[in-house]
Amino acid sequence: MAGRLTAAQLAGYRQDGFLVLEDFVAPGRCLELRERALGLARELAPPPERATVFRADGDSPHAAAEYFLGSGGAIRCFFEQDAFDAAGRLRAPAHLCLNKLGHAMHDLDPVFDAFSRTPELATVAADIGMAQPLLLQSMYIFKQARIGGEVACHTDHTYLWTEPPSVVGFWFAIDDATTENGCLWALPGGHRIPVKARSRLNAAGTATETVVLDPAPYPAEGLVPLEARRGTLVLLHGALPHRSGANASERPRHAYTIHAIDGRANYLPDNWLRRPALPLRGFSA
Ligand code: FE2
Repeated sequence: MAGRLTAAQLAGYRQDGFLVLEDFVAPGRCLELRERALGLARELAPPPERATVFRADGDSPHAAAEYFLGSGGAIRCFFEQDAFDAAGRLRAPAHLCLNKLGHAMHDLDPVFDAFSRTPELATVAADIGMAQPLLLQSMYIFKQARIGGEVACHTDHTYLWTEPPSVVGFWFAIDDATTENGCLWALPGGHRIPVKARSRLNAAGTATETVVLDPAPYPAEGLVPLEARRGTLVLLHGALPHRSGANASERPRHAYTIHAIDGRANYLPDNWLRRPALPLRGFSA
């Protein structure tokens, strides 16, 4: 199974906590996923009065809503904060105002399923030491032109906590991502800094709460932009601090992410994402 990544690539991943693999997916397959995501958005975007703004900058009032907490085993739409005008009306057709779709397209939609499960991905997961990868979460991130919001510096382990830590992000550039349209930024070697926070369900299971483990912020300096052409795969270690900028440009920056955990690790029951009716599967079709 193993053997796609070179020794230098593996060493780079271990050193930096991320790895950029250009031309991992053919552009045509990215465009197929893009079309499907826009189709799902058109089909599923709720009317504005029921729109849930997805806020990526910390705990937010809507986090308590079942719409979010129930999305681990569903395909749901989350809007950009800046999608609404002062009167609360959407500035554009609903599907063009979405921040993202989440969080189980990889299990519920055949196009996403096929994109997410390939021998190449299975091999990469094995190469980086995932003995039993399980696809926990998928997100299709629109980062729309002009209204695509920034995502504050965070680690994915904070949100998808296993013991020992095991989550890995598989981030695909569906459009070209540049510093102009809000590409990823990551802190090389930052995965060796102990994770500073954990987000978990409160005792009632009605909202998420953040447990601060170290109040000192991540270094503001030293993050590097991960510009990525369409078809690039970026691997992100779960403890790696990363962020992305707002998209003030005229070009959308679509991306698709899968978060996988290792089945050997213990997935804590008070993680926000629960999918009681949907067994976890790996990268094999
Ligand atoms: Fe992330």
